[in-house]
Amino acid sequence: MKKEFLDLGRHPIANAFLKEEDFDDEFLFNLKVVFDTESKLVSIKKFVDPKRIFNENYPYTTSNSFPMVKHFKETAEMLKGEFNPLTVMEIGSNDGVFLKNWANDYTIGVEPCGNFAKITEDMGYQTYSEFWTTKLSEKIKNDGHVDFDLIYAANCICHIQDLDDCFSSVKNILSKDGVFVFEDPSLLCMLERGSYDQIYDEHAHIFSVTALDNILINNGLKIFRVDNLSVHGGSNRIYVSHLPVHTFFRFRPVEMSVRENLEKEYDFGLNEFKIYQDFAKRVNKSKNDLVKLIRELRFIHDKRIVCVGATSKSTTVFNYCEIDGSLIECITDTTPDKQGMYSPGSHIPVVDRESVNLNDYDYVFLGAWNFKEVITDKEKDFIENGGKFITHVPEVTVFS
Ligand code: TMP
Repeated sequence: MKKEFLDLGRHPIANAFLKEEDFDDEFLFNLKVVFDTESKLVSIKKFVDPKRIFNENYPYTTSNSFPMVKHFKETAEMLKGEFNPLTVMEIGSNDGVFLKNWANDYTIGVEPCGNFAKITEDMGYQTYSEFWTTKLSEKIKNDGHVDFDLIYAANCICHIQDLDDCFSSVKNILSKDGVFVFEDPSLLCMLERGSYDQIYDEHAHIFSVTALDNILINNGLKIFRVDNLSVHGGSNRIYVSHLPVHTFFRFRPVEMSVRENLEKEYDFGLNEFKIYQDFAKRVNKSKNDLVKLIRELRFIHDKRIVCVGATSKSTTVFNYCEIDGSLIECITDTTPDKQGMYSPGSHIPVVDRESVNLNDYDYVFLGAWNFKEVITDKEKDFIENGGKFITHVPEVTVFS
């Protein structure tokens, strides 16, 4: 049974940055969150049509987030060293930051956003510009590809609404020794940190290891290792192999990290509905605290506030807390396709970081709080000039 625990109100598509002339036509939907008492999966109550989200206009490029470039290079090196795959497929290959670490004669990409699929095709990687489905896995097989030794996906599997179809199609095309490795934001980290801004249209689900274990086993796959990562505000990297029902498939022992993560989640109470009700109360408090702080700074003390990082997460915060351009003057972001546009729903102008002197502002709201260290390190000058940061994770705080 699916039980609702959080209603974040009306939201736009988190990455649909827009021009002023498109404000009136903006698509909005009700963002509510449910817990499945059987599988323990946390999901958005009513999914948005993925074609509305992932299309030619999708602006998030991994290559513009330099900590992520380093992360994917290190991940590829680790996977090469450990599994030495002869054939590789990435699901959700974006603009090729992971792919480019592998030779293009044995590596393919799957990427529904045509703008990115073109970039990786131009880099020499065959890229299927389609959503990941059973139909596509069969098409790839029919095109003559052998089964893959490594199937990798980062921040993509949690976007896929039908997980049974997703995992059974992975199984369909994973070699008998193969590993399926995917990383997505961790539900436990979200609950611990109160980072409700992981919830937006793209994240059809927020994964726990517990829920994944249940759903993967139903699809003939099993988790044999889990890495806890700091990226994207706390993620899990899940390593999966065939469930060896017969000797044809390689047996990979289930490592301690799986049991440790399952126990950690169980001990936290993640299998019980009450933890989600408590989380909803904390989210409501976070909103009240943030709105009070920003309103007082702006309207009582006449302070100027800028946001750094036009993230999907900041879309959730600004729309849930009804923060607009009267409170936060602009958002800086390193992604060229976001610059010159307005933030979804809240309609705050997004500008190039280079065009703004942070010292003209009193406060920086950390839209990219997951890059807190990187940003505070880069903006030392702002701090030395008396500037202060605001973050809402884990609690609404001002720091310098
Ligand atoms: P993410 O949290 O989904 O990875 O998005 C991070 C966004 O923040 C992305 O649009 C790039 C932007 N960004 C900056 O503007 N400045 C920075 O220093 C960093 C690290 C990211």
